[in-house]
Amino acid sequence: MDRKWWKEAVVYQVYPRSFKDNDGDGVGDLKGIISKLDYIKSLGIDVVWLNPIYSSPNDDNGYDVSDYRNIMKDFGTMEDFDALLKGMHTRGIKLVMDLVANHSSDEHEWFKQSRSSRNNPYREYYHWWNAEKGKPPYRYSLFDVNHDAWRYDSLTNAYYLHYFSRKQPDLNWENPKLRNEVYGIMKFWADKGIDGFRLDAFQFAAKDTTFPAFPKGFEKNFTQYYGVQGNLHGYLQEMNREVLSKYNVMSVAEGAGNTFEDGHNLVDADRNELNMAYAFEGVDIAKPEGYSVIHLKQVFTKWDSAFAAKGWLSIFLANHDQARLVSRFGNDSPEFRAVSSKMLTTFLMTMRGTPYYYNGDELGMTNAGFSTIDDYRDVQTLNEYQRQKNIGADLPAYLKRIAFESRDNGRTPFQWNSTAHAGFTTGTPWIKVNPNYKSINAAAQEKDANSTLNYFRRIVKLRKDNLILVYGKYTLLDAQNPDTYAYTRELNGRKLLVLLNFTGKAASAQTGLDLSNATVLIGNYQKSSKNGALMPYEAVVYELK
Ligand code: GLC
Repeated sequence: MDRKWWKEAVVYQVYPRSFKDNDGDGVGDLKGIISKLDYIKSLGIDVVWLNPIYSSPNDDNGYDVSDYRNIMKDFGTMEDFDALLKGMHTRGIKLVMDLVANHSSDEHEWFKQSRSSRNNPYREYYHWWNAEKGKPPYRYSLFDVNHDAWRYDSLTNAYYLHYFSRKQPDLNWENPKLRNEVYGIMKFWADKGIDGFRLDAFQFAAKDTTFPAFPKGFEKNFTQYYGVQGNLHGYLQEMNREVLSKYNVMSVAEGAGNTFEDGHNLVDADRNELNMAYAFEGVDIAKPEGYSVIHLKQVFTKWDSAFAAKGWLSIFLANHDQARLVSRFGNDSPEFRAVSSKMLTTFLMTMRGTPYYYNGDELGMTNAGFSTIDDYRDVQTLNEYQRQKNIGADLPAYLKRIAFESRDNGRTPFQWNSTAHAGFTTGTPWIKVNPNYKSINAAAQEKDANSTLNYFRRIVKLRKDNLILVYGKYTLLDAQNPDTYAYTRELNGRKLLVLLNFTGKAASAQTGLDLSNATVLIGNYQKSSKNGALMPYEAVVYELK
C-alpha cells in the first residue's frame, strides 16, 4: 500500500459563514473559527477544508472572488487568517483552502479591465463573443434566472460567458497569462503554509472555446459537454509542475469527470496532476421520494472497484452544496434522527477513500424547514424561484422541492448550545437558525456519552487506529438486499465486516459469514446480534476471527 497522509486523513469541512460569529454582525468569521479550534481538535480529525474566505461581493457566498489575496471583510483580516493557520498547526490540524479558478467575481479588477474595451490587455482573461457574429450558441447556466450562460454587455457590444451566476464570469484557461496569475495566487497561499487546495468546479475550466452548437436536447448535459473538455489535463500537469510539486500540499478536484478514465487521469500518481477527486454520482442519489439502497451500493461499489488498484477518491454524502446528510440519506424524525445519523457516519468512516465530513453533521443537524422563499439566501435557489415564477410554474411545488434539496438547508448556523441563536451569534444571523437547536446542539451532546457527536469522535478514532479502514480491500456482500448494506474490509490477514441497516424497520443481512466469534469494534446500539439481524438504522463494525 502506498501510504500518504492525505489518504489517512479525515477531512472536516467548515462553512465559515455559518460556523461561529465573533463580532456580532450575524455572519460567521475567522475569529469565530479560532475560538472553536479546541472543539475541532476534539473531533480527532486531521484536516479542515475551509470554503472561500477571499474578498467577495458574496453573490455566491464567497465563490465569486474579487481579490484572491485578501480576506473577505465579513470574515476578518489577514492577521486573523495567520492566527487561524497558526492555531490549527499548533494543534496538528492541516488546512485546505478552496481555489475558485473556473470563474472570478465580475467585481474583480481583471473583469473590470476586461469588459472596459475590446483591446484591453485583460480582454482575453475571460470568454467574450462579439455580437456582430450573431447570438452565441446556447450554453446552460446553473444559476442564471434564464438558464442562459451568455450575458450581453453593451459597453463593448459582446457577450461574456458565465456557467454560474452573471456575477461569476468564467476565466479563460487557454490564456497562459491567466494561468500564471492563478499559479501565483496558489503560491501566495502555499507560501503562507497552507496544506492543500480544493479545486472548485475545475472540470469546467477547459472548454471548447470555438463554442460549437450542442446537439438539440443535449444543451443541458453538463457532464458530457461542459466538463473535462479541451486541455484540462495539460493545465493540471502544468499546475502540478509550477505549484503542487513544490509544496507538501494535497489537491482535490470537485468532480471526477464523465468517465472512470477521466477520473483516473485526474488522480493517477504517475500522471502528476491531482491527489484525489470527488465523484457526484453517490451524493446525487437521494431524491425527495427516497432512493434505492441497492442503487447506492452499486454506485459506491463501482467507484471503489474502478480505483481499487490505482488512484484515490474522496468519500462523502454531504457538503455545503447539499441539504443535510440525515434529512436526505437518513431519517430526521425524532425517533430515528440520532441513530440514522450514526449509521450514515459509520458508512462514511468505514469506506476506502478519504472521508469528507460536513460541519454540523456530527450533531445530526437537520434540514432548515423553511416554508417561505423569504427565508432563503442562496443565489441558485432564489434565481430558480424567480425563473419558476416567470414561466408560470407551480410555486408551491417548487417550495416543497427546495425544502428538501436547497443548499441553504446545509447552511443554517452551527448549533453550539441552547442560548439565543444557538450560540452562533449575539446579533441577527444572516440566515435563520434551525428552531430545533434547543434540543440539537453541541453543548447538550458533549454531556451525553451516547450522542451523535461522541459517536463521531469514537468512529474517527477507530478509523485513525485501524489502517485497514483506510487501505483495506472492500468487498460488497448481499448485493441484492434492498434494506441493508454489508461489506468487508481486508488487510494483512485482518478482516472487518460492516453491517448497515438503511431502513426504519428491523432487517437482516445475509453475508454467509460466521459471526459467532466476531468482536464488535463499534455499533450504534448497546448490543449487536451475532447473526446478521439488525435493528432500525443499526450500524455495526465487527472484527472477524
Ligand atoms: C462549486 C461550489 C459551489 C459554488 C460553485 C460555483 O460547485 O461547491 O458552492 O456555488 O462551485 O463556484
